[in-house]
Amino acid sequence: MENFIYCNPTKILFGKGQIFNLGSEIKNYSNKILFVYGGESIRKNGVYNEVLKQLNRYNIIFFELSGVVPNPRISLIKKGIEICREKGIGFILAVGGGSTIDTAKTIAAAVKYDGDPWDLFVKRIPIKEALPIGTVLTIAATGSEMNDTAVITNWEKHEKRMISAEALYPKFSILDPECTYTVPNNQTVFGSIDIMIHLLEQYFHHDQETMVQDVLCEGLLKTVIKYLTMALKDPEDYNARANLMWASSLALNGLIGSGVISDWTTHRIGQEISAIYDIPHGESLAIVWPHWAKYVMEEGYGKFKQYATNVWGANDEHKTDKEIAIEGIDMTEKFFSKMGVGYRLNYLKIYEKDIEIIAGKVVEPGPVGNFKKLYKEDVIQILKKCFYK
Ligand code: NZQ
Ligand code: ZN
Repeated sequence: MENFIYCNPTKILFGKGQIFNLGSEIKNYSNKILFVYGGESIRKNGVYNEVLKQLNRYNIIFFELSGVVPNPRISLIKKGIEICREKGIGFILAVGGGSTIDTAKTIAAAVKYDGDPWDLFVKRIPIKEALPIGTVLTIAATGSEMNDTAVITNWEKHEKRMISAEALYPKFSILDPECTYTVPNNQTVFGSIDIMIHLLEQYFHHDQETMVQDVLCEGLLKTVIKYLTMALKDPEDYNARANLMWASSLALNGLIGSGVISDWTTHRIGQEISAIYDIPHGESLAIVWPHWAKYVMEEGYGKFKQYATNVWGANDEHKTDKEIAIEGIDMTEKFFSKMGVGYRLNYLKIYEKDIEIIAGKVVEPGPVGNFKKLYKEDVIQILKKCFYK
């Protein structure tokens, strides 16, 4: 196991009715806030009214910034920065999913930076300070509610990039599973696949004797597999929504990635596809992961065998490690297609002519991956497999 320092400062308020604590939590930071959200979903399901009740109860002055879209854009962030500066905002509240939270995080950091906010993403300017943010999570997916990362798209440049900094951890996140009852089935699937791929990207590494991390990953993967199916059958199944929600945070809050050298290749490829084609994050991952896995599995059949047997219950009698490894990957792919995702890129109207461009962007900062280091030609090979001939 690698050395690590782990500190996660985000306070979690989990369960039914926790939104009741929203006002008092915000009051710890400021009386004047920016309230960030996406489209119509929080108005339709009543979360917007609940938030307003709490803000009014505590006499919190708020300014709204709505219109965050999936694969959130830097353009809206510029609007948010203006409001914060003009109104002297002291706190940012994000109510929504990863896109809304990432928008809030970026505004929080960019308010403290005088240059173009996109610089923070491309020039890697260290983020030392940011406005405090808090979240009310409405979809189980990214883990942004409990981590230090934001992923934003510059649509004019077709670039999707991330920033990470200690200052970006939300001060608190309210996780009420009931807020996710209205998430449509396709988004429930995309979010759950995202959780699974976060787990898998941190599971496939070459560090030895990492049983703590391994069993946490395997347990969380089994949790998502079980409860995703249940949430699709009954979107108001509290226990299913609760397990998915907590799995979302635990999968990407730094815990299971501590002490191991993770591999984020599937995310890098998925990100570059979304930057050109604006497809849902989880959907891109579902297509890429099985092909990444088959391409790199010879680097460690043992770990793939462990995955197949511990997560999918594959029977290893009379089979080679390679055969069991393939079985585990195939079972994953079958599960994705049963959930309605993970077909091929051509189904999403993505064209093979762009493989070269996507692969070039993936390796622009250098070779990608740690389970196996991949170069442009490798990424091209993986992408080619993502298309039906
Ligand atoms: O716009 P609204 O009305 O909010 O609708 C959203 C959106 O259409 C809808 N939704 C959310 N909660 C709902 C709901 N609909 C009905 N009822 C509810 N309760 O779901 C759609 C997707 O929302 P979005 O926030 O985009 O989803 P998600 O949480 O999956 O976020 C995806 C974004 O996060 C980034 C992704 O790249 C993508 O841009 N990621 C962020 C990470 C991080 N910060 O750590 C890591 C991830 O790997 C990922 O890259
Ligand atoms: Zn993700």
